[in-house]
Amino acid sequence: MKITLIGTGYVGLVSGAVFADWGHDVVCLDIDEKKIEMIKKGIMPIYEEGLEELVARVISDGRFIATTDYEMAVEHGELVFICVGTPSNESGAADLSYVYSAAESIGKYMKEGEYKVIITKSTVPVKTNESVEASVRKGGGTKKLDFDVASNPEFLREGTSIYDANNADRVVIGSQSKKALDLLETLYSQLQTTIVKTDLASAELIKYAANAFLATKISFINEISQICERTGADVKSVALGMGLDNRIGPKFLNAGIGYGGSCFPKDVEALYRTSSQNFYDFRLLRGVMDANERQKHYFLEKLWDKYGTNLSKYNFGILGAAFKNDTDDTRKSVAIEIIKILRGSGAKMKLFDPAAMENAKKELGNEYITYAKSAEEVFEKADAVIILTEWKEFGSLDYKNLASKMKEKVVFDGRNLLEPKEMKALGYEYFGIGRHRV
Ligand code: UGA
Repeated sequence: MKITLIGTGYVGLVSGAVFADWGHDVVCLDIDEKKIEMIKKGIMPIYEEGLEELVARVISDGRFIATTDYEMAVEHGELVFICVGTPSNESGAADLSYVYSAAESIGKYMKEGEYKVIITKSTVPVKTNESVEASVRKGGGTKKLDFDVASNPEFLREGTSIYDANNADRVVIGSQSKKALDLLETLYSQLQTTIVKTDLASAELIKYAANAFLATKISFINEISQICERTGADVKSVALGMGLDNRIGPKFLNAGIGYGGSCFPKDVEALYRTSSQNFYDFRLLRGVMDANERQKHYFLEKLWDKYGTNLSKYNFGILGAAFKNDTDDTRKSVAIEIIKILRGSGAKMKLFDPAAMENAKKELGNEYITYAKSAEEVFEKADAVIILTEWKEFGSLDYKNLASKMKEKVVFDGRNLLEPKEMKALGYEYFGIGRHRV
């Protein structure tokens, strides 16, 4: 099939490369010339396991073109996917200006007599696709354009997005047009998965409902971790016992410092806005957001309790800046928020993250913060080491030998990567989240 994707962020670039890998003819467009030049040279604008190799392969096979040429890109695709960003605006609602401007440009460059399906993959609030249709017609002016709109939300996770695109739990496609649904079903027919065919509004809402539910699961276990702290129960045991009920499932039950990233905070907030705009008070979601905000403060309170609120005498080793493991993304990272609060209290810090050092430097600069070349280096002369991102390797460092490098053997584990008993046996004072006190 001939496919065009507009926007080369996580969603557009990964989906484009994967579609090309499936044998389709793909054009990926971005208005950012720098990004397109980088992609052409094989340098990926995002860090994603396996993406560089995949893009290099599909480019050399002649099935993937990156371009800034809108006219060519729109002409190419029978399926045109909108994959641009939908950041939060000041009020917390999704800013849809990039979506509408892409839709208008599609209308501008589309020709009469050429049928296309225009599909929104970006996460957009319910009913947006009705306006996408209007924007395409606006861009087309007096032309009589033949197209259908569809919604095909993306469920990939950063860090594992190529795997996710090839092993989707499900594919969701929504449209009022059977022709559009059939074409999209053909595109995805090679995946061994369930294809949910539905109307536009339901497809749009599925994405928000899924992200909001996952965020709720995280906030739920974070709230349970607080009960654990107050009763002596252990949140890992509780999560294990809950997760073995297959109606609940074990995933997304890791208590920590709260969820972050470019999706959950924005999407939960936007769904809350949608409900308010539709005169519905979605109180549960308000609670999810509040719990997430409180969770980082509960973690910080462990430090305040030990050191007081003036931290100017202390040097901390910090492990992690990315919003989660296996990514260099620091957008809405709770790790970054916590580092900023610690800096505000005068703490000096040495930071290491396996992938997010560049982004961390951009966000944090050099004031009170130095950057280490390895995880081990942050232990040197530290009053405490603070784990903020759930990188697997932080759980398997040689804590026995590292203890001797520290000024004080103290670890604050914001991701529950370590076992309290084992840390105590190595002579550490250990603070987890909702873990057994030892
Ligand atoms: C999330 C969804 O998982 C994807 O399905 C969705 O496609 C994507 O948003 C999106 O809307 O584009 P992602 O933002 O990559 O994917 O990150 P997640 O793996 O979901 O993690 C989000 C946050 O929750 C991270 O800060 C992570 O540390 C935190 N988390 C996750 C926990 O605190 N505990 C858990 O048990 C799991």
